[in-house]
Amino acid sequence: MSFTIAIDGPAAAGKGTIARALAAELGFVHLDTGLLYRAVGALGGDPVAAARGLHPADLQRGDLRSAEAGQAASRVAVIPEVRAALVDFQRRFARTEPGAVLDGRDIGTVICPEARLKLYVTARDEVRAHRRALELGADPVQILHELRERDARDAARDVAPMRPAPDALLFDTSDMAISDAVRVAIEAARRAG
Ligand code: C5P
Repeated sequence: MSFTIAIDGPAAAGKGTIARALAAELGFVHLDTGLLYRAVGALGGDPVAAARGLHPADLQRGDLRSAEAGQAASRVAVIPEVRAALVDFQRRFARTEPGAVLDGRDIGTVICPEARLKLYVTARDEVRAHRRALELGADPVQILHELRERDARDAARDVAPMRPAPDALLFDTSDMAISDAVRVAIEAARRAG
């Protein structure tokens, strides 16, 4: 049986970096599930049709990392039919041998409740805004506002709200170098294996 690792948490907490490093260390595949919602938001038109017809090439668009694409993603992510259209692809991906790391908001709770290891990665709002502002070359105050708005929408929605699974390990990266956070996550994965 393949080894699935679920990594959830709010924006810019370090999920992506940890997920990529874990996958590289363990020889697993990695899926940034936020990209699916970003692509659906960026395609425009009817989001349900966009989600149902989503093509791997749609995930390669160059404009998906922007703050605007993040906001558009979180607006389409509240639509139950959009989420439903993306479930099978994510579950199939999670079964890739020898293992898969998926990061998002509902991986441990909805997509892969049976994942062998679940991490819920957080960091203080200001720390997350600072990190994301550096990454995007943007104003930290503006980014802080944007992250809070997006987290509030992601946590409040009725379907698959952002929240830790009951059996997730909570991991606050605020006061850690990201390289240390990666090391702790790798140790957790080795213990779970
Ligand atoms: O992780 P990222 O910031 O790229 O996600 C963009 C948006 O996509 C999130 O704010 C959230 O609304 C949505 N999302 C989701 N479920 C996931 C991954 C992302 O609802 N598993």
